[in-house]
Amino acid sequence: MQSSFLNLALLRQSCRKYIDSKVEQEKLDVILEAARLSPSASNSQPWTIVVVNDEAKCKMVAESTISGGIPINKFALQAPMFLVIVVEKARPITRLAGWIKGKDFEWTDMGIIAEHICLQAAELDLGSCMIGWFDEKRVKQVLNVPSNKRVGLVIALGYPPDDYHIRKKIRKSTDELVRYNTYSSIK
Ligand SMILES: Cc1cc2nc3c(=O)[nH]c(=O)nc-3n(C[C@H](O)[C@H](O)[C@H](O)COP(=O)(O)O)c2cc1C
Repeated sequence: MQSSFLNLALLRQSCRKYIDSKVEQEKLDVILEAARLSPSASNSQPWTIVVVNDEAKCKMVAESTISGGIPINKFALQAPMFLVIVVEKARPITRLAGWIKGKDFEWTDMGIIAEHICLQAAELDLGSCMIGWFDEKRVKQVLNVPSNKRVGLVIALGYPPDDYHIRKKIRKSTDELVRYNTYSSIK
């Protein structure tokens, strides 16, 4: 069966090469609107997005993702902008529910908004990459985020080169992923 959502999910991939071209404000506004519409536990919306498009700050954020002696994320230096997701406190009722159930709803919500951003970016022919490996202290310093808050993800955003092909998706097979009606056949 044809699905335009599945086509979009196939189109979105982690983009690790960017050309020297800015993201238009019009497109950014659409991405931010898609982010704004994200669902969250009890509709707490426990997030703030810091748009980083100042050249000097972009460089500092990019450098913060290359930290720690692990040679990843060098591509971030090419990205013309970043969306940085700050995790805010959920509503007291949501936090209580999370505490009772041993679930961290704020971080679940953070993942959802991140994917809204990346899928919307893909639909607008933009590349994106969620970056979880970064020096959080440094990012907070650069963006004036209070030290008691957490930065969930840094998302690189920009245009990929024309010859940047869609890679094959390496994923679990449906058989590995899905079980109907029971997790385990052992009773
Ligand atoms: C929470 C999270 C953190 C990630 N951190 C990084 C990262 O620091 N550097 C990077 O290059 N990719 C990072 N990725 C991208 C994943 O490696 C990528 O999504 C995965 O390999 C699947 O590939 P695809 O996004 O191209 O479909 C991250 C993805 C997620 C969801």
